[in-house]
Amino acid sequence: MKDPEAALGQLVQQALAAELGPEYAAADPLIRPSGFADYQSNAAMALSRRLGRPPRDIAGPVADRLAVSDPVAKAELSGAGFINISLADNWIAGQASAQLDDPRLGVPLAESAQRVVVDYSSPNVAKEMHVGHLRTTIVGDAVVRVLEHLGHHVIRANHIGDWGTQFGMLLEHMLDAGEPATRQALASGDINAFYQAAKQKFDADAEFADRSRLRVVELQSGDPETLRLWQILVSDTEQYYNAIYRRLGITLTDADLAPESFYNDMLADVCDELRALGVAVISDGALCAFPPGFTARDGSPLPIILRKSDGGYGYDATDMAAIRYRVRDLGADRLIYVVGSEQSLHFAMVFAVARQAGWLTDKVRAEHATIGMVAGQDGKRFRTRSGGSVKLITLIDEAVDRAEKVIEDRYDDQQQRRQIAEAVGIGALKYGDLSVARDSSYVLDFDRLLALTGNTGPYLQYAAARIRSIFARAGLDPAAATGPIVLGAAAERALALRLLGFGRAVEDAAAAAEPHKLAGFLFETASAFTSFYEQCPVLAAAGEIRQSRLALCALTLQVLITGLGLLGISVPERM
Ligand code: ARG
Repeated sequence: MKDPEAALGQLVQQALAAELGPEYAAADPLIRPSGFADYQSNAAMALSRRLGRPPRDIAGPVADRLAVSDPVAKAELSGAGFINISLADNWIAGQASAQLDDPRLGVPLAESAQRVVVDYSSPNVAKEMHVGHLRTTIVGDAVVRVLEHLGHHVIRANHIGDWGTQFGMLLEHMLDAGEPATRQALASGDINAFYQAAKQKFDADAEFADRSRLRVVELQSGDPETLRLWQILVSDTEQYYNAIYRRLGITLTDADLAPESFYNDMLADVCDELRALGVAVISDGALCAFPPGFTARDGSPLPIILRKSDGGYGYDATDMAAIRYRVRDLGADRLIYVVGSEQSLHFAMVFAVARQAGWLTDKVRAEHATIGMVAGQDGKRFRTRSGGSVKLITLIDEAVDRAEKVIEDRYDDQQQRRQIAEAVGIGALKYGDLSVARDSSYVLDFDRLLALTGNTGPYLQYAAARIRSIFARAGLDPAAATGPIVLGAAAERALALRLLGFGRAVEDAAAAAEPHKLAGFLFETASAFTSFYEQCPVLAAAGEIRQSRLALCALTLQVLITGLGLLGISVPERM
Protein backbone atom coordinates (compact mmCIF):
# COMPACT_ATOMS: atom_id res chain seq x y z
CA MET A 1 0.00 0.00 0.00
CA LYS A 2 1.07 3.53 -0.65
CA ASP A 3 1.39 6.61 1.47
CA PRO A 4 -0.86 9.14 -0.32
CA GLU A 5 1.57 12.02 0.06
CA ALA A 6 4.39 10.01 -1.48
CA ALA A 7 2.15 8.74 -4.26
CA LEU A 8 1.00 12.25 -5.10
CA GLY A 9 4.53 13.58 -4.89
CA GLN A 10 5.59 11.15 -7.57
CA LEU A 11 2.72 12.14 -9.81
CA VAL A 12 3.51 15.82 -9.45
CA GLN A 13 7.15 15.13 -10.32
CA GLN A 14 6.09 13.20 -13.41
CA ALA A 15 3.83 16.04 -14.50
CA LEU A 16 6.58 18.61 -13.89
CA ALA A 17 9.03 16.55 -15.93
CA ALA A 18 6.56 16.16 -18.79
CA GLU A 19 5.77 19.86 -18.76
CA LEU A 20 9.19 21.38 -18.07
CA GLY A 21 11.80 18.78 -18.95
CA PRO A 22 13.28 15.62 -17.44
CA GLU A 23 15.50 17.53 -14.99
CA TYR A 24 12.35 18.45 -13.07
CA ALA A 25 11.59 14.85 -12.22
CA ALA A 26 13.53 15.38 -9.00
CA ALA A 27 12.03 18.76 -8.06
CA ASP A 28 10.45 18.97 -4.62
CA PRO A 29 6.71 18.42 -5.17
CA LEU A 30 5.93 20.32 -1.94
CA ILE A 31 2.82 18.38 -1.04
CA ARG A 32 0.92 19.86 1.91
CA PRO A 33 -2.49 19.24 3.45
CA SER A 34 -5.10 21.57 2.06
CA GLY A 35 -8.31 23.03 3.37
CA PHE A 36 -9.90 22.85 -0.10
CA ALA A 37 -8.84 19.42 -1.30
CA ASP A 38 -7.02 16.37 0.05
CA TYR A 39 -3.65 17.99 -0.61
CA GLN A 40 -2.05 20.86 -2.42
CA SER A 41 1.23 21.13 -4.26
CA ASN A 42 3.21 24.32 -3.88
CA ALA A 43 5.85 23.25 -6.38
CA ALA A 44 5.04 25.88 -9.00
CA MET A 45 5.48 28.66 -6.45
CA ALA A 46 8.97 27.42 -5.66
CA LEU A 47 9.96 26.88 -9.29
CA SER A 48 8.68 30.15 -10.65
CA ARG A 49 11.77 32.14 -9.76
CA ARG A 50 14.15 29.55 -11.17
CA LEU A 51 12.15 29.46 -14.42
CA GLY A 52 11.45 33.17 -14.56
CA ARG A 53 7.77 32.45 -15.17
CA PRO A 54 4.72 33.35 -13.11
CA PRO A 55 3.65 30.45 -10.86
CA ARG A 56 0.18 30.24 -12.39
CA ASP A 57 1.69 29.68 -15.84
CA ILE A 58 3.50 26.66 -14.50
CA ALA A 59 0.77 25.36 -12.20
CA GLY A 60 -2.04 25.51 -14.79
CA PRO A 61 -0.70 23.00 -17.30
CA VAL A 62 0.69 20.79 -14.52
CA ALA A 63 -2.76 20.72 -12.92
CA ASP A 64 -4.29 19.76 -16.31
CA ARG A 65 -1.91 16.84 -16.58
CA LEU A 66 -2.58 15.74 -13.02
CA ALA A 67 -6.32 15.94 -13.53
CA VAL A 68 -6.17 13.13 -16.07
CA SER A 69 -3.74 10.90 -14.18
CA ASP A 70 -4.70 8.01 -11.99
CA PRO A 71 -5.55 8.01 -9.04
CA VAL A 72 -6.25 11.73 -9.03
CA ALA A 73 -9.95 12.58 -8.98
CA LYS A 74 -9.55 16.29 -9.28
CA ALA A 75 -6.66 18.72 -9.76
CA GLU A 76 -7.18 22.45 -10.03
CA LEU A 77 -5.13 25.57 -10.27
CA SER A 78 -5.84 27.81 -7.32
CA GLY A 79 -4.84 31.22 -6.01
CA ALA A 80 -1.41 32.52 -6.86
CA GLY A 81 -0.25 29.21 -8.30
CA PHE A 82 -1.17 26.37 -5.98
CA ILE A 83 -2.53 23.08 -7.25
CA ASN A 84 -5.34 21.54 -5.24
CA ILE A 85 -5.48 17.80 -5.61
CA SER A 86 -7.99 15.20 -4.43
CA LEU A 87 -7.62 11.46 -4.71
CA ALA A 88 -10.13 9.05 -6.16
CA ASP A 89 -12.39 7.35 -3.60
CA ASN A 90 -11.78 3.92 -5.02
CA TRP A 91 -8.03 4.36 -4.76
CA ILE A 92 -8.29 5.39 -1.09
CA ALA A 93 -10.64 2.47 -0.44
CA GLY A 94 -8.30 0.02 -2.14
CA GLN A 95 -5.29 1.28 -0.22
CA ALA A 96 -7.15 1.13 3.08
CA SER A 97 -8.25 -2.44 2.36
CA ALA A 98 -4.62 -3.32 1.62
CA GLN A 99 -3.52 -1.64 4.85
CA LEU A 100 -5.92 -3.84 6.80
CA ASP A 101 -4.29 -6.92 5.25
CA ASP A 102 -0.77 -5.64 5.90
CA PRO A 103 0.68 -6.82 9.22
CA ARG A 104 2.81 -3.65 9.32
CA LEU A 105 -0.25 -1.47 8.70
CA GLY A 106 1.58 0.46 6.03
CA VAL A 107 4.63 1.29 8.14
CA PRO A 108 7.66 0.63 5.93
CA LEU A 109 10.92 -0.85 7.16
CA ALA A 110 13.87 1.53 6.89
CA GLU A 111 15.74 1.10 3.63
CA SER A 112 19.03 0.85 5.45
CA ALA A 113 18.94 -0.11 9.11
CA GLN A 114 21.09 2.06 11.33
CA ARG A 115 22.81 1.46 14.66
CA VAL A 116 21.41 4.11 16.92
CA VAL A 117 22.54 4.81 20.46
CA VAL A 118 19.79 6.48 22.45
CA ASP A 119 21.02 8.04 25.70
CA TYR A 120 17.98 8.60 27.90
CA SER A 121 16.54 8.60 31.39
CA SER A 122 20.03 8.88 32.92
CA PRO A 123 19.13 9.77 36.52
CA ASN A 124 21.69 10.17 39.28
CA VAL A 125 22.58 7.76 42.04
CA ALA A 126 21.38 8.71 45.52
CA LYS A 127 19.25 11.48 44.07
CA GLU A 128 15.56 11.29 43.39
CA MET A 129 14.60 11.09 39.76
CA HIS A 130 12.61 14.26 39.21
CA VAL A 131 9.90 15.14 36.70
CA GLY A 132 12.59 16.28 34.28
CA HIS A 133 14.08 12.80 34.29
CA LEU A 134 10.59 11.38 34.00
CA ARG A 135 10.16 13.27 30.76
CA THR A 136 13.48 12.21 29.25
CA THR A 137 12.61 8.65 30.25
CA ILE A 138 9.19 8.71 28.62
CA VAL A 139 10.27 10.53 25.46
CA GLY A 140 13.44 8.44 25.11
CA ASP A 141 11.51 5.21 25.44
CA ALA A 142 9.06 6.28 22.73
CA VAL A 143 11.94 7.22 20.43
CA VAL A 144 13.51 3.82 20.98
CA ARG A 145 10.29 1.98 20.25
CA VAL A 146 9.65 3.96 17.07
CA LEU A 147 13.19 3.39 15.76
CA GLU A 148 13.05 -0.32 16.48
CA HIS A 149 9.71 -0.62 14.77
CA LEU A 150 11.28 0.82 11.63
CA GLY A 151 13.94 -1.89 11.79
CA HIS A 152 16.84 0.08 13.24
CA HIS A 153 19.24 -1.51 15.69
CA VAL A 154 18.88 0.50 18.88
CA ILE A 155 21.34 0.52 21.75
CA ARG A 156 19.78 2.00 24.87
CA ALA A 157 22.27 3.86 27.05
CA ASN A 158 21.23 4.78 30.56
CA HIS A 159 24.01 7.22 31.44
CA ILE A 160 23.46 7.12 35.18
CA GLY A 161 25.35 9.64 37.29
CA ASP A 162 27.18 7.24 39.61
CA TRP A 163 30.52 9.01 39.89
CA GLY A 164 31.88 12.33 41.07
CA THR A 165 32.89 14.27 44.12
CA GLN A 166 29.43 14.18 45.71
CA PHE A 167 29.99 10.53 46.53
CA GLY A 168 32.47 11.54 49.21
CA MET A 169 29.75 13.10 51.34
CA LEU A 170 27.18 10.44 50.44
CA LEU A 171 29.48 7.64 51.55
CA GLU A 172 30.49 9.39 54.77
CA HIS A 173 26.84 10.01 55.56
CA MET A 174 26.15 6.38 54.84
CA LEU A 175 28.86 5.37 57.33
CA ASP A 176 27.40 7.72 59.97
CA ALA A 177 23.86 6.51 59.46
CA GLY A 178 24.85 2.86 59.14
CA GLU A 179 24.32 0.55 56.23
CA PRO A 180 20.89 -0.80 57.21
CA ALA A 181 19.40 2.66 57.77
CA THR A 182 20.84 3.87 54.47
CA ARG A 183 19.49 0.94 52.54
CA GLN A 184 16.13 1.39 54.20
CA ALA A 185 16.05 5.05 53.14
CA LEU A 186 16.95 4.22 49.56
CA ALA A 187 14.51 1.35 49.26
CA SER A 188 11.61 3.43 50.57
CA GLY A 189 12.37 6.13 48.05
CA ASP A 190 13.54 8.68 50.62
CA ILE A 191 16.49 9.36 48.39
CA ASN A 192 16.22 13.09 48.46
CA ALA A 193 16.11 13.27 52.24
CA PHE A 194 19.25 11.17 52.32
CA TYR A 195 21.00 13.42 49.83
CA GLN A 196 19.88 16.61 51.59
CA ALA A 197 21.07 15.35 54.96
CA ALA A 198 24.50 14.56 53.53
CA LYS A 199 24.67 17.97 51.89
CA GLN A 200 23.65 19.80 55.05
CA LYS A 201 26.33 18.07 57.08
CA PHE A 202 28.88 18.78 54.39
CA ASP A 203 28.05 22.48 54.45
CA ALA A 204 27.86 22.82 58.23
CA ASP A 205 30.49 20.46 59.57
CA ALA A 206 34.12 21.05 58.60
CA GLU A 207 35.30 17.72 60.00
CA PHE A 208 32.64 15.90 57.93
CA ALA A 209 33.65 17.87 54.84
CA ASP A 210 37.29 16.85 55.31
CA ARG A 211 36.35 13.21 55.72
CA SER A 212 34.22 13.49 52.57
CA ARG A 213 37.08 14.82 50.51
CA LEU A 214 39.35 12.01 51.67
CA ARG A 215 36.62 9.52 50.83
CA VAL A 216 36.51 10.82 47.23
CA VAL A 217 40.21 10.10 46.89
CA GLU A 218 39.71 6.60 48.26
CA LEU A 219 36.85 5.97 45.88
CA GLN A 220 38.88 7.14 42.91
CA SER A 221 41.93 5.14 43.90
CA GLY A 222 39.82 2.01 44.15
CA ASP A 223 39.89 1.32 47.90
CA PRO A 224 37.96 -1.98 48.21
CA GLU A 225 35.84 -1.09 51.26
CA THR A 226 34.91 2.28 49.75
CA LEU A 227 33.99 0.61 46.49
CA ARG A 228 31.87 -1.92 48.35
CA LEU A 229 29.88 0.83 50.06
CA TRP A 230 29.59 2.79 46.83
CA GLN A 231 28.29 -0.30 45.06
CA ILE A 232 25.51 -0.58 47.64
CA LEU A 233 24.45 3.01 47.01
CA VAL A 234 24.50 2.42 43.28
CA SER A 235 22.63 -0.85 43.17
CA ASP A 236 20.00 0.17 45.71
CA THR A 237 19.25 3.30 43.71
CA GLU A 238 19.14 1.30 40.50
CA GLN A 239 16.61 -1.03 42.04
CA TYR A 240 14.49 1.91 43.00
CA TYR A 241 14.63 3.23 39.44
CA ASN A 242 13.91 -0.19 38.04
CA ALA A 243 10.71 -0.32 40.05
CA ILE A 244 9.65 2.98 38.48
CA TYR A 245 10.59 1.76 35.00
CA ARG A 246 8.54 -1.42 35.44
CA ARG A 247 5.55 0.47 36.76
CA LEU A 248 5.68 2.89 33.82
CA GLY A 249 6.33 0.20 31.22
CA ILE A 250 9.73 1.63 30.29
CA THR A 251 11.87 -0.82 28.31
CA LEU A 252 15.15 -0.04 30.11
CA THR A 253 16.78 -2.95 31.94
CA ASP A 254 20.06 -3.47 33.80
CA ALA A 255 21.62 -4.50 30.50
CA ASP A 256 21.20 -0.92 29.33
CA LEU A 257 23.16 0.64 32.19
CA ALA A 258 26.08 2.60 30.86
CA PRO A 259 26.82 4.70 33.92
CA GLU A 260 29.50 7.36 34.19
CA SER A 261 31.82 4.98 36.03
CA PHE A 262 31.79 2.65 33.02
CA TYR A 263 34.00 5.16 31.20
CA ASN A 264 36.55 5.63 34.00
CA ASP A 265 39.15 3.39 32.45
CA MET A 266 38.95 5.23 29.15
CA LEU A 267 39.38 8.76 30.46
CA ALA A 268 43.18 8.95 30.55
CA ASP A 269 43.40 7.57 27.03
CA VAL A 270 40.75 9.93 25.72
CA CYS A 271 42.72 12.84 27.16
CA ASP A 272 45.95 11.56 25.64
CA GLU A 273 44.37 11.16 22.25
CA LEU A 274 42.83 14.62 22.27
CA ARG A 275 46.15 16.06 23.36
CA ALA A 276 48.10 14.23 20.68
CA LEU A 277 45.62 15.49 18.09
CA GLY A 278 46.21 19.01 19.31
CA VAL A 279 42.54 19.37 20.21
CA ALA A 280 43.23 19.58 23.95
CA VAL A 281 45.72 21.90 25.61
CA ILE A 282 46.83 22.69 29.16
CA SER A 283 45.27 25.88 30.43
CA ASP A 284 45.77 27.04 34.03
CA GLY A 285 46.93 23.57 34.93
CA ALA A 286 43.82 21.89 33.55
CA LEU A 287 43.51 19.97 30.31
CA CYS A 288 40.92 21.76 28.19
CA ALA A 289 39.55 21.81 24.69
CA PHE A 290 38.36 25.08 23.19
CA PRO A 291 36.02 24.22 20.32
CA PRO A 292 35.91 27.04 17.79
CA GLY A 293 32.91 29.33 17.92
CA PHE A 294 32.13 28.97 21.63
CA THR A 295 32.84 32.10 23.58
CA ALA A 296 31.88 33.51 26.96
CA ARG A 297 30.05 36.80 27.25
CA ASP A 298 33.33 38.68 27.45
CA GLY A 299 34.46 37.11 24.18
CA SER A 300 36.98 34.72 25.74
CA PRO A 301 36.96 31.15 24.41
CA LEU A 302 34.87 28.65 26.39
CA PRO A 303 36.55 25.43 27.49
CA ILE A 304 35.46 21.88 27.87
CA ILE A 305 37.33 20.65 30.92
CA LEU A 306 38.86 17.26 30.33
CA ARG A 307 41.06 16.98 33.40
CA LYS A 308 40.98 19.39 36.31
CA SER A 309 44.19 20.81 37.67
CA ASP A 310 43.96 18.39 40.62
CA GLY A 311 43.97 15.49 38.16
CA GLY A 312 40.24 14.72 38.56
CA TYR A 313 37.87 14.04 35.70
CA GLY A 314 34.30 15.27 35.49
CA TYR A 315 31.10 15.23 33.46
CA ASP A 316 32.71 16.69 30.31
CA ALA A 317 35.48 14.10 30.14
CA THR A 318 33.02 11.27 30.65
CA ASP A 319 30.87 12.47 27.77
CA MET A 320 33.92 12.71 25.52
CA ALA A 321 34.80 9.12 26.37
CA ALA A 322 31.20 8.03 25.84
CA ILE A 323 30.98 9.57 22.40
CA ARG A 324 34.23 7.99 21.28
CA TYR A 325 33.16 4.62 22.64
CA ARG A 326 29.76 4.80 20.99
CA VAL A 327 31.16 5.63 17.59
CA ARG A 328 34.30 3.52 17.65
CA ASP A 329 33.39 0.49 19.71
CA LEU A 330 29.63 0.30 19.25
CA GLY A 331 29.81 1.35 15.60
CA ALA A 332 26.92 3.79 15.90
CA ASP A 333 25.57 5.62 12.84
CA ARG A 334 23.44 7.92 14.90
CA LEU A 335 23.61 9.20 18.49
CA ILE A 336 20.55 10.65 20.17
CA TYR A 337 20.86 12.31 23.58
CA VAL A 338 17.45 12.77 25.15
CA VAL A 339 18.40 15.29 27.82
CA GLY A 340 17.04 18.55 29.26
CA SER A 341 17.49 21.71 27.23
CA GLU A 342 19.61 23.27 30.01
CA GLN A 343 22.45 21.03 28.79
CA SER A 344 22.33 22.30 25.20
CA LEU A 345 25.63 24.15 25.45
CA HIS A 346 27.34 21.13 26.99
CA PHE A 347 26.31 18.86 24.12
CA ALA A 348 27.01 21.42 21.41
CA MET A 349 30.55 21.67 22.77
CA VAL A 350 31.01 17.92 23.20
CA PHE A 351 29.88 17.37 19.61
CA ALA A 352 32.15 20.13 18.34
CA VAL A 353 35.21 18.67 20.08
CA ALA A 354 34.31 15.18 18.84
CA ARG A 355 34.15 16.59 15.32
CA GLN A 356 37.56 18.23 15.75
CA ALA A 357 38.92 14.89 16.89
CA GLY A 358 37.46 13.16 13.86
CA TRP A 359 35.25 10.91 16.00
CA LEU A 360 32.12 12.47 14.59
CA THR A 361 32.13 12.60 10.81
CA ASP A 362 29.54 13.20 8.13
CA LYS A 363 28.67 9.53 8.44
CA VAL A 364 27.67 9.77 12.09
CA ARG A 365 24.87 12.02 13.18
CA ALA A 366 24.85 13.26 16.76
CA GLU A 367 21.81 15.08 18.05
CA HIS A 368 20.73 16.51 21.34
CA ALA A 369 17.01 15.77 21.52
CA THR A 370 16.28 18.62 23.90
CA ILE A 371 13.63 18.21 26.55
CA GLY A 372 11.74 21.22 27.83
CA MET A 373 10.66 21.93 31.37
CA VAL A 374 7.68 20.41 33.12
CA ALA A 375 5.96 23.26 34.91
CA GLY A 376 3.43 23.39 37.72
CA GLN A 377 0.20 25.37 37.54
CA ASP A 378 2.21 28.48 38.47
CA GLY A 379 4.27 28.13 35.30
CA LYS A 380 7.44 27.48 37.30
CA ARG A 381 9.38 24.25 37.55
CA PHE A 382 7.10 21.52 38.94
CA ARG A 383 7.55 21.19 42.71
CA THR A 384 5.72 20.05 45.81
CA ARG A 385 3.72 22.61 47.72
CA SER A 386 6.62 23.01 50.13
CA GLY A 387 8.96 23.71 47.24
CA GLY A 388 10.78 20.37 47.25
CA SER A 389 11.10 18.19 44.21
CA VAL A 390 8.33 15.68 43.78
CA LYS A 391 8.83 12.01 44.46
CA LEU A 392 8.09 10.28 41.21
CA ILE A 393 6.26 7.44 42.78
CA THR A 394 3.91 9.92 44.48
CA LEU A 395 3.25 11.54 41.15
CA ILE A 396 2.45 8.23 39.48
CA ASP A 397 0.16 7.24 42.35
CA GLU A 398 -1.65 10.53 42.07
CA ALA A 399 -2.19 10.06 38.33
CA VAL A 400 -3.61 6.59 38.92
CA ASP A 401 -5.81 7.64 41.86
CA ARG A 402 -7.27 10.46 39.85
CA ALA A 403 -7.80 8.21 36.87
CA GLU A 404 -9.75 5.89 39.12
CA LYS A 405 -12.05 8.77 40.05
CA VAL A 406 -12.62 9.56 36.37
CA ILE A 407 -13.77 6.03 35.56
CA GLU A 408 -15.25 5.24 38.97
CA ASP A 409 -18.92 5.08 38.17
CA ARG A 410 -18.41 2.64 35.31
CA TYR A 411 -16.97 -0.25 37.26
CA ASP A 412 -18.19 -2.09 40.32
CA ASP A 413 -15.41 -4.64 40.33
CA GLN A 414 -12.67 -2.97 42.31
CA GLN A 415 -9.81 -5.01 40.95
CA GLN A 416 -10.82 -4.36 37.37
CA ARG A 417 -11.25 -0.68 38.15
CA ARG A 418 -7.74 -0.47 39.63
CA GLN A 419 -6.28 -2.21 36.61
CA ILE A 420 -7.92 0.13 34.16
CA ALA A 421 -7.04 3.15 36.29
CA GLU A 422 -3.39 2.11 36.21
CA ALA A 423 -3.38 2.04 32.40
CA VAL A 424 -5.37 5.26 32.13
CA GLY A 425 -3.41 7.21 34.76
CA ILE A 426 -0.02 6.20 33.45
CA GLY A 427 -1.16 6.59 29.86
CA ALA A 428 -2.33 10.13 30.65
CA LEU A 429 0.97 11.02 32.28
CA LYS A 430 2.98 9.63 29.38
CA TYR A 431 0.78 11.09 26.69
CA GLY A 432 1.04 14.48 28.39
CA ASP A 433 4.80 14.33 27.83
CA LEU A 434 4.56 12.92 24.33
CA SER A 435 1.86 15.09 22.81
CA VAL A 436 3.80 18.33 23.18
CA ALA A 437 6.90 19.04 21.12
CA ARG A 438 9.64 17.65 23.34
CA ASP A 439 11.60 20.89 23.48
CA SER A 440 8.71 23.03 24.65
CA SER A 441 7.74 23.22 28.27
CA TYR A 442 4.27 22.27 29.41
CA VAL A 443 2.14 22.54 32.50
CA LEU A 444 1.51 19.33 34.36
CA ASP A 445 -2.17 19.70 35.14
CA PHE A 446 -3.80 16.40 36.01
CA ASP A 447 -7.31 17.60 35.20
CA ARG A 448 -6.26 18.40 31.66
CA LEU A 449 -4.14 15.28 31.16
CA LEU A 450 -6.97 13.05 32.36
CA ALA A 451 -9.79 14.67 30.40
CA LEU A 452 -11.76 12.23 28.26
CA THR A 453 -11.95 14.73 25.42
CA GLY A 454 -9.25 16.69 23.65
CA ASN A 455 -5.70 15.67 22.85
CA THR A 456 -5.20 13.37 25.84
CA GLY A 457 -4.16 9.79 26.49
CA PRO A 458 -7.58 8.82 27.89
CA TYR A 459 -9.34 10.17 24.79
CA LEU A 460 -7.25 7.94 22.55
CA GLN A 461 -7.62 4.94 24.82
CA TYR A 462 -11.32 5.57 24.96
CA ALA A 463 -11.59 5.67 21.17
CA ALA A 464 -9.93 2.24 21.03
CA ALA A 465 -12.14 0.88 23.82
CA ARG A 466 -15.22 2.14 22.02
CA ILE A 467 -14.26 0.27 18.87
CA ARG A 468 -13.72 -2.87 20.89
CA SER A 469 -17.16 -2.54 22.36
CA ILE A 470 -18.70 -2.23 18.89
CA PHE A 471 -17.24 -5.62 18.05
CA ALA A 472 -18.18 -7.05 21.42
CA ARG A 473 -21.81 -6.00 20.95
CA ALA A 474 -21.91 -7.66 17.55
CA GLY A 475 -20.18 -10.76 18.91
CA LEU A 476 -17.43 -10.31 16.33
CA ASP A 477 -13.66 -10.46 16.49
CA PRO A 478 -11.98 -7.34 15.04
CA ALA A 479 -9.22 -9.54 13.64
CA ALA A 480 -11.81 -11.26 11.46
CA ALA A 481 -12.96 -8.06 9.75
CA THR A 482 -11.83 -8.23 6.15
CA GLY A 483 -13.83 -5.60 4.35
CA PRO A 484 -13.46 -4.77 1.53
CA ILE A 485 -13.54 -1.10 2.44
CA VAL A 486 -15.85 0.93 0.20
CA LEU A 487 -16.32 4.64 0.66
CA GLY A 488 -19.58 6.55 0.61
CA ALA A 489 -19.95 9.18 3.31
CA ALA A 490 -17.46 12.04 3.63
CA ALA A 491 -16.56 11.03 7.18
CA GLU A 492 -15.73 7.52 6.02
CA ARG A 493 -13.48 8.85 3.32
CA ALA A 494 -11.76 11.27 5.70
CA LEU A 495 -11.06 8.49 8.19
CA ALA A 496 -9.67 6.15 5.54
CA LEU A 497 -7.42 8.85 4.09
CA ARG A 498 -6.17 9.71 7.56
CA LEU A 499 -5.33 6.09 8.35
CA LEU A 500 -3.15 5.87 5.24
CA GLY A 501 -0.82 8.44 6.82
CA PHE A 502 0.28 6.07 9.61
CA GLY A 503 3.58 5.04 8.01
CA ARG A 504 4.59 8.59 7.33
CA ALA A 505 3.73 9.65 10.88
CA VAL A 506 5.98 6.93 12.31
CA GLU A 507 8.80 7.92 9.95
CA ASP A 508 8.37 11.59 10.82
CA ALA A 509 8.58 10.76 14.52
CA ALA A 510 11.83 8.87 13.93
CA ALA A 511 13.43 11.46 11.67
CA ALA A 512 14.19 14.03 14.37
CA ALA A 513 13.30 11.94 17.43
CA GLU A 514 9.95 13.69 17.79
CA PRO A 515 7.25 11.39 19.17
CA HIS A 516 4.74 14.25 19.28
CA LYS A 517 4.39 13.86 15.52
CA LEU A 518 3.06 10.36 16.00
CA ALA A 519 0.90 11.52 18.92
CA GLY A 520 -0.59 14.25 16.72
CA PHE A 521 -1.39 11.74 14.01
CA LEU A 522 -3.10 9.41 16.48
CA PHE A 523 -5.18 12.25 17.88
CA GLU A 524 -6.30 13.23 14.38
CA THR A 525 -7.12 9.62 13.67
CA ALA A 526 -9.19 9.30 16.83
CA SER A 527 -10.98 12.56 15.98
CA ALA A 528 -11.68 11.34 12.45
CA PHE A 529 -13.04 8.16 13.98
CA THR A 530 -15.28 10.09 16.34
CA SER A 531 -16.85 12.00 13.43
CA PHE A 532 -17.21 8.81 11.43
CA TYR A 533 -18.90 7.06 14.33
CA GLU A 534 -21.29 9.96 14.87
CA GLN A 535 -22.25 10.11 11.21
CA CYS A 536 -22.08 6.53 9.98
CA PRO A 537 -24.03 3.79 11.71
CA VAL A 538 -21.94 0.64 11.83
CA LEU A 539 -23.94 -2.20 13.31
CA ALA A 540 -27.22 -0.79 12.01
CA ALA A 541 -25.89 -0.76 8.46
CA ALA A 542 -26.42 -3.76 6.20
CA GLY A 543 -24.51 -5.89 3.75
CA GLU A 544 -21.46 -4.49 2.06
CA ILE A 545 -21.64 -1.17 3.90
CA ARG A 546 -21.70 -2.90 7.27
CA GLN A 547 -18.72 -5.05 6.25
CA SER A 548 -16.83 -2.00 5.09
CA ARG A 549 -17.54 0.03 8.20
CA LEU A 550 -16.54 -2.82 10.45
CA ALA A 551 -13.30 -3.07 8.49
CA LEU A 552 -12.69 0.65 8.96
CA CYS A 553 -13.32 0.22 12.69
CA ALA A 554 -10.91 -2.71 12.84
CA LEU A 555 -8.23 -0.83 10.94
CA THR A 556 -8.62 2.22 13.19
CA LEU A 557 -8.35 -0.02 16.24
CA GLN A 558 -5.15 -1.63 15.02
CA VAL A 559 -3.57 1.67 14.09
CA LEU A 560 -4.48 3.17 17.48
CA ILE A 561 -3.19 0.17 19.44
CA THR A 562 0.01 -0.08 17.43
CA GLY A 563 0.62 3.66 17.44
CA LEU A 564 -0.04 4.02 21.16
CA GLY A 565 2.17 0.98 21.72
CA LEU A 566 4.99 2.79 19.92
CA LEU A 567 4.51 5.62 22.39
CA GLY A 568 4.68 3.10 25.22
CA ILE A 569 1.00 3.50 26.10
CA SER A 570 -1.18 0.48 26.67
CA VAL A 571 -4.84 0.31 25.78
CA PRO A 572 -7.13 -1.21 28.40
CA GLU A 573 -9.57 -3.83 27.13
CA ARG A 574 -12.48 -1.79 28.40
CA MET A 575 -12.91 1.73 29.61
N1 ARG B 1 22.75 12.41 34.79
C1 ARG B 1 22.58 13.61 34.02
C2 ARG B 1 21.58 14.53 34.72
O1 ARG B 1 20.84 14.10 35.56
C3 ARG B 1 22.09 13.35 32.63
C4 ARG B 1 23.01 12.57 31.76
C5 ARG B 1 22.69 12.73 30.30
N2 ARG B 1 23.52 11.98 29.43
C6 ARG B 1 24.81 12.26 29.14
N3 ARG B 1 25.45 11.49 28.31
N4 ARG B 1 25.39 13.34 29.63
O2 ARG B 1 21.54 15.70 34.43
